[in-house]
Amino acid sequence: MSHAASEQTRITVRPLGAALGAEVRGIDMRAPLDAAAFQAVHDAWMTHLVLVFPEQHITDAEHVAFTRNFGEPEIFHQDIIKSARVREIFRVSNVDEDGKLMARSNPTMQQISLAEFWHTDSSYRPNPCMGSLLHGIEVSRTGGETHFTNMYAVYEALPDTLRRQVEGRRAKHDFGHLHTLRDLRPLTEAERAAMPPVWQPMVRTHPVTGRKSLYISPIYNDAIEGMAPAEAKQLIADLAEFAGEPRFVYPHRWETDDVVMWDNRCTMHQVTPYDPMERRVMHRTTIVGEGPVMAA
Ligand code: OGA
Ligand code: MN
Repeated sequence: MSHAASEQTRITVRPLGAALGAEVRGIDMRAPLDAAAFQAVHDAWMTHLVLVFPEQHITDAEHVAFTRNFGEPEIFHQDIIKSARVREIFRVSNVDEDGKLMARSNPTMQQISLAEFWHTDSSYRPNPCMGSLLHGIEVSRTGGETHFTNMYAVYEALPDTLRRQVEGRRAKHDFGHLHTLRDLRPLTEAERAAMPPVWQPMVRTHPVTGRKSLYISPIYNDAIEGMAPAEAKQLIADLAEFAGEPRFVYPHRWETDDVVMWDNRCTMHQVTPYDPMERRVMHRTTIVGEGPVMAA
């Protein structure tokens, strides 16, 4: 039996909140995405920034294949967290690949727990990622909501005192900054050389929508151009606090087999704390960005 393209999918997009986020139904990620469906999803993504696709009973391979509709999957640069089975999969999980719960003190757990702070993914790369798709395989009920914030809206609402400090400035994004935030070992010389710090504009222009947004990633930011270290640290903290105001945020409460797809160019996210003894298994793919960040 074959389906005509017109009857294959009836895609519906339902906004989830005032700030950002929409639920998309009528997509089966196991099937190829035709051009019209791709366009509908992409348009919804550009409008709503975060898309929730419920009831996606996908394998990792299907997750990766769906991701390829949008671009090349990014491969994580460390061996931890990255799946040993499917290299494009980044495992946001407190359960190892043999199904065993990891101790909170495990370095992998420490690193994953940094997602409890606002950030945008892979901003420490010269070419940061475009977006991420996170699949809830075992979801948490003790917390573990993922909160997303609309950085276009944050930029537009910035008070003058903050706006003046970010216009025309660059912030340093350093993967090696992570270890200062929790009990992690510092990177080795070789690891530092493999991912040297980069300077990114603090206000960027989105390559598709042309809209301006604030671009920071507080877990990686340890310096701002032309600012003393203490002043830079305070500004990042103030910006993160402002960006986290509820009026800018969509909080996602996970159901099993939700896939949430977000645009890392104009959002940040963080996960709410959860009981580390409760299994939480989330698999992520990441889409390589189209090029260096465009300053606004
Ligand atoms: C991520 C991330 C948050 C979460 O996958 O990039 O930050 O809810 N995850 O697990
Ligand atoms: Mn993240």
